[in-house]
Order: sequence, then structure tokens, then C-alpha cells
Amino acid sequence: MQTVTTYEQATERRFPEQITIAIAKDANGKHNPITISWTMLTSIEPPMMAISVGKERYSATALSHAGEFVLSLPSADMKNDVLFHGTKSGRDLDKLAECGTKTQPAAKIDSVLLADAVANFECELVSEHETGDHIIFVGRVVASHVNENPAVRRLYTLGNEQMGPVNPG
Ligand SMILES: Cc1cc2nc3c(=O)[nH]c(=O)nc-3n(C[C@H](O)[C@H](O)[C@H](O)COP(=O)(O)O)c2cc1C
Repeated sequence: MQTVTTYEQATERRFPEQITIAIAKDANGKHNPITISWTMLTSIEPPMMAISVGKERYSATALSHAGEFVLSLPSADMKNDVLFHGTKSGRDLDKLAECGTKTQPAAKIDSVLLADAVANFECELVSEHETGDHIIFVGRVVASHVNENPAVRRLYTLGNEQMGPVNPG
């Protein structure tokens, strides 16, 4: 049986929720990461992925300007990076440098990969769609990378402000 409640209370039940970090180069040439939970694969052929970014976010401007981005799947060891990139703004600082997140050059686009992530995808921006107070950025994947250690596990939001792998141990 279901009981009527508010949107806010019902969406509290959605965890665990995936976490990604998207990186786009801003107009000053700085690679700016943003923590994004609202993300999805949208196509197999061609391979495409989408992220939902608040309209007012610094990253929304950077993504439109760059026309390309990296979508990174952070590992369970990257909690600090995820919190930093999800609470500080590229308007105020160089997040990658300040946080000390380990990067390596991307192969096909002018961006960086997160070296300790589970996987990284290089995307060319193909479209933007306004959806309420967010914009969905759709990217075509032009290169894919995985961590050389297959045992590295993904990080999720678990609810109650906790983060971790879904099946610890
Ligand atoms: C776990 C987590 C998930 C988040 N998911 C999203 C999201 O899906 N979309 C979004 O626009 N912001 C999301 N945020 C908030 C942004 O990461 C945050 O506002 C960030 O500081 C914006 O950076 P910027 O100003 O450099 O763009 C999330 C934050 C956290 C901690």
C-alpha cells in the first residue's frame, strides 16, 4: 500500500544514489569539477551520457562555454574530493588545485581525467535542455577510461549525509 506524501519526503527514499564528477574548462582556462548525482547513460550507439546541472551554477556556464566535458565516476576513496567539489565553487577558487585531486590529461578533448576514479568518459557536448531549475547537458562519449585496479569501487550517497560503496566489505 502507498500513502500520499510530499515530493521532498518521497525522494528521501531514493538512496543509494550514484555520484559523478563532471569537469569543464571555464573561460579562464581552468578545469572546473562539479559533483553531480543526477546523471544517466542515454544511448548505446552512439554512446551518450547526460548530467543535470543547476542553472545558477558556475559549472553551467563553464559547460556551455567549453562544449565538452569529462564525466568521472569517483571511487570510494574520493569522499573528500566529492565533498570539496560539491560544496565549493569554481567562481572562487581552483578546486582541483586547492583540493589536490590527482588528475591526468584527457586523450581526445581539452580536459583532465581524475586519476583515482573508477572510470572516466570524455564527452563532446551535443545538446542542452532546460528542465525546471536545472539544465540537462547531453554529451557524446569520444573516449572511455578505467582504473587499472579492477577492485576499486564506486562511491554512492547512502542517505543521512553518508557516502560509501553500496556493498561494503
Ligand atoms: C553528493 C552531491 C551531489 C550533488 N549533485 C548535484 C547535481 O546533480 N546537480 C547539481 O547541479 N549540483 C549538484 N550538487 C551540488 C554542486 O556540486 C555544488 O553546488 C558545487 O559547489 C557547484 O560547483 P560550481 O559552483 O563550481 O559549479 C551536488 C553536491 C553533492 C555534495
